[in-house]
Amino acid sequence: MSLFVILGLLVCIQAQGTIETPVFVLKGRDLLLELHADPPEGLLYVDWKINKTVILVRFDRSGKADILHSVPGRFEFPENKFSVILKNLQEVDSGVYSAVAVTSTGDKPVSEYKVTVQGPVSPVKLTVDRVDSRCSESCDLHVTCRTHNSHINSTFRCVDQVCSQEGGERSEVTTSGASLQVYLLNSTIICNHSNQAHWTQDFIIAEHLCYLNAELPSVFLVKMVVFSVALIIMVSAVITVHLVDFKKHQERNGGQTPHAALEESSHLKVTF
Ligand SMILES: *[C@@H]1O[C@H](CO)[C@@H](O)[C@H](O)[C@H]1NC(C)=O
Ligand SMILES: *[C@@H]1O[C@H](CO)[C@@H](O)[C@H](O)[C@H]1NC(C)=O
Repeated sequence: MSLFVILGLLVCIQAQGTIETPVFVLKGRDLLLELHADPPEGLLYVDWKINKTVILVRFDRSGKADILHSVPGRFEFPENKFSVILKNLQEVDSGVYSAVAVTSTGDKPVSEYKVTVQGPVSPVKLTVDRVDSRCSESCDLHVTCRTHNSHINSTFRCVDQVCSQEGGERSEVTTSGASLQVYLLNSTIICNHSNQAHWTQDFIIAEHLCYLNAELPSVFLVKMVVFSVALIIMVSAVITVHLVDFKKHQERNGGQTPHAALEESSHLKVTF
């Protein structure tokens, strides 16, 4: 255990004087590495190393570069003294790139980058699987956010054109370590696939879908109203006819009890 503590202390001491900059680079892109601090007095040369061990480039104190470990064409040297451009980075180039200034009195770390090279993420597709409408003002959108190796389902409820995501934002880490998310932004449903270097998106405007869908229930509603009114008119007509009938019976039969007449009337109703 004490070994770990000592190692930890060493790491801390080593890290002093330089700030490790995390950088995520899309595969195939170039990366500029520069010094974070001025080279110290009495400089002999500056070394750029990979993973603290292998020297890639050595600059003499005038700034002239000597490539010590690389295939030709991997480096470019900009105007900026002691800087290096890494060309066409690939995943295998990931690692810690650090610059050390060497003087007669010792080494001084002057720059450090933790470089992660990531490939592009695959495209995504956002699809609406189902639209449920309970009434013209409210609807549920069931969507799927899909990429080649993963997918997320989510439901959005829209009431009076204001939508919300059931259970909040959904996200998932895919097998390739990228993040797949589906969320709502200003009534737009967004399906997003991203790693630290690249992202792809697909989206749907939620309120449009619910609005389109709301056309159907409103037609249905009109039909319902027309049907109800027709039914009321019919029932009223039947009742009126029966009442008139009932009155006529009463007048005709004179002595007959209203009860018997009612019975006849209800019998008529049943046969209708
Ligand atoms: C640097 O070290 C890391 C972790 O040990 C390793 O994955 C990576 O391949 C190394 N990078 C190079 C360019 O050798
Ligand atoms: C979302 O809406 C707000 C307020 O209406 C607006 O300020 C913001 O810019 C919108 N965002 C996007 C991404 O459209």
